[in-house]
This record gives sequence, C-alpha cells and structure tokens, in this order.
Amino acid sequence: MNPVRVLTGITTSGTPHLGNYVGAIRPTVRASRLAGVESFYFLADYHALIKTSGDPARVQRSTLEIAATWLACGLDPEKVTFYRQSDIPEIPELTWMLTCVTGKGLLNRAHAYKASVDKNTESGAEPDDGVTAGLFMYPVLMAADILMFNAHQVPVGRDQIQHIEMARDIASSFNHLYGEHFTLPEAVIEENVATLPGLDGRKMSKSYDNTIPLFVPREQLKKLIMGIVTDSRAPGEPKSTEGSALFQLYQAFASAEETDALAKAYAEGIAWGEAKQLLFERLDREIAPMREVYDGLIRDPARIEKTLKMGAAKARAIATPFTQRLRHAVGLRALDTQADTSTPKAAKAALPVFKQYREKDGLFYFKLTDARGALLLQSTGFAAPREAAQAMARLQAEGKLALDALAPQLIAPDDVERVTSALDVLRQSAA
Ligand code: TRP
Repeated sequence: MNPVRVLTGITTSGTPHLGNYVGAIRPTVRASRLAGVESFYFLADYHALIKTSGDPARVQRSTLEIAATWLACGLDPEKVTFYRQSDIPEIPELTWMLTCVTGKGLLNRAHAYKASVDKNTESGAEPDDGVTAGLFMYPVLMAADILMFNAHQVPVGRDQIQHIEMARDIASSFNHLYGEHFTLPEAVIEENVATLPGLDGRKMSKSYDNTIPLFVPREQLKKLIMGIVTDSRAPGEPKSTEGSALFQLYQAFASAEETDALAKAYAEGIAWGEAKQLLFERLDREIAPMREVYDGLIRDPARIEKTLKMGAAKARAIATPFTQRLRHAVGLRALDTQADTSTPKAAKAALPVFKQYREKDGLFYFKLTDARGALLLQSTGFAAPREAAQAMARLQAEGKLALDALAPQLIAPDDVERVTSALDVLRQSAA
C-alpha cells in the first residue's frame, strides 16, 4: 500500500511556547514516527513575510529557533522531509500557476482577509486599508505548499480548515483545466490535544502576550511558572482544579496517576507556591533533556543549515520533476518539442456536481456534491423537473446571488462559503 503523505508548515514568525509544544510539536513528532506515513514538515518563511515584513532579523531568528525546536523535540530529519519553504523555488512558481486558476471571489471570502476588511469597515477606513496583496494571496501560497507534494493529510489548527478547503477547490480547478495532477488534500484536526492556558489563564497565545517559551533557561522557566495566576485561597484551604491554569498545565505533561495525586493535594489544601514548584519540576523533567539539545543547536546554526539543505534536496527531488510536468501541462514548453493539442481527459470527476432526482413523494429534488461526493447543498421538493433544472442553472450562473434568492427552495447549507466556492468552480469550468 502507498504510504499516506502528511504535510504541515510552521510559520516562522515567533518563538515556540508550551502551547505550540503540547498542541502541535509533540503530537506531530510522535505521528512522524508511525509506520505507513511519509511526512513533510517545513518552515513557512515565505508566509512569515506576510506578518513580519520589515523585520528581517525576526524572520531569521524565528527560523533558527523553530528549526532547532523541532529537531530538539525529536523530529528525525532522516525519516521525514524537513525543509525550509524558501529553499524550494518551485513553490513560488507553482503559486503563480495556481493564482491563474483561482477565482478572486474565492480569496475575497478568506476569513483572515474578511476579518481585516470588517475591521476597517467598522472603524470607517477604506475596506482594504493596510491589507497587502500578500495577505490576500496567502491561501494560494499555502495551496502551493500542499499541492506540490500531493499531500493527502494536512494536520492543522481549526483556524486553518478553510485554507485546506481552498487548496482543494484550487486543485479541482487546475485538474479540471489541465488534467488530474493534484491530490485533493484533507485537513486533519487533532481533537484530543489540550489547549493550554497561559500565564493569565486565557488560552496561551502570542497575541495575548501570556506565553511560556518552551526553551527558556531553567531559572526563567521557574520564575514564569511562579507568575501564573491563581485565586487567593490560603495554604490549607481546599482548592478547585476546575478552571485552574496551573492544574491544566500540569495535566498536559503528567501521567494520569501524577494528575490524580495533584488533584488530591488540591483538595487537601496544598499551598499555591508548593503546587507551582511541583509544576515546575514536572515540566523541567520533560523539557531539560530537549533544552540541552536545543541550546547546542542554537550555538551551531551551521549544523541546522546543513540539515535544512539536505531536506531541501529531498523535497526538490520531488518538486523539480513535478514542476516540469506542470509547466508542460499549462503550456510552458520548449518550442522544439512537438505541440500536444490533446485536451486533458478524466478531468470531469474532479468537479463538484449537481444531481437531480425524484423522491417517493413524487417531487423533484436536486443536490450539489463536491468533487469527492460529499453533500454541499440540498433543495426542497419541486413540482416539476423543469423548475429544479432552472434553479440549478441559476445557481451555477449566478453563484452567491442565486443562493440568497433561492433560499426558500433550499435547505440552509452548513457551509455557505464552500457552496459558493463550488458554484464558482462550476461557473469557471463552464466558461
Ligand atoms: N498557515 C499555516 C499556519 O499559520 C502555516 C502553513 C503555511 C501551512 N503553509 C502551510 C500549514 C501548508 C499546513 C500546510 O498555521
């Protein structure tokens, strides 16, 4: 059986913290050791330019720190393909090919872009104020990352699901125009991974400035832990584990027995200072050996550079010939090769489809499914097949407008944006 291809990128715009470790790094490193998977992990430094433009030192520093972190946490660069996005010139090349099959309307609907526009509108500014074309194009660059390696699965956070769906839509459009080149990727959301609270009890996040960096020196780790918010219960007073950031952090690192023991100590009125000491020791026990490797790597950037270059060579062994094939497919060809005038076949299967059918109630219905057959939209019953056909034609021709106008005849879709995108893909393919 062919191995499952798993790919994910990490934007190089910050310093890894405990939340990243528990939520992404630790589970991903574990998963990379499984048999039957072929993993691709990369440092998304082109993406970092979108968020950190004007701060080159930060991009470089973050790239070093994130690479060292993943290696120190046990990622095996011999087993997986670990590379830096900007070492693969085929990625921006593919980005352009994909840009040319991506509806601008699809990008208009991206959550991150829409959020910026909404914020501007609220404050009375021009809708696109401060929005770079880079931010707007973010989903296409991300689609290129994924489609270049024909990844089946893309482990991401919930906020990235839409980007994977867009990658799928973009892949469908390309496949329809030029033949079946791309695998349609799927987002994988790790459900049972804890979201860690930060120093102030809210979700640990750079944007709240409440993080505990993964590899701070031991003494600083201790100081940070001593600063975690608690309530004002005195030593000897029973304490509640519910809503205790300290407890949740402990739980993310400790075994079930250790966690039970701490719960018992809470009930028995352990002093906060003592509980913090326990947390510090438990954390440091897991982190200390990795910190040693990390510090060694940071002192020797040439070693990391070499590892990344090796990863880039592995990645390009796939990307270079594949890009060659794609260039040929779109018509970027040497002039002394014979013109291939055949039109791609087998492309139909990769498009969303409308299906009309009749139910036992004698009425006529239609539904829209995506390229993989998943239901996107369903109609209510029409008395005549012509009415159903007209509604489908209108949806295909007018997209979102028709979706609103025909709302009474449709069962409200779960995800309006997916439906709208599918209609866009259909309209473009018919054009
Ligand atoms: N956008 C992702 C994030 O911010 C990072 C990323 C870039 C990525 N390219 C990717 C993730 C490709 C998965 C696949 O988390």
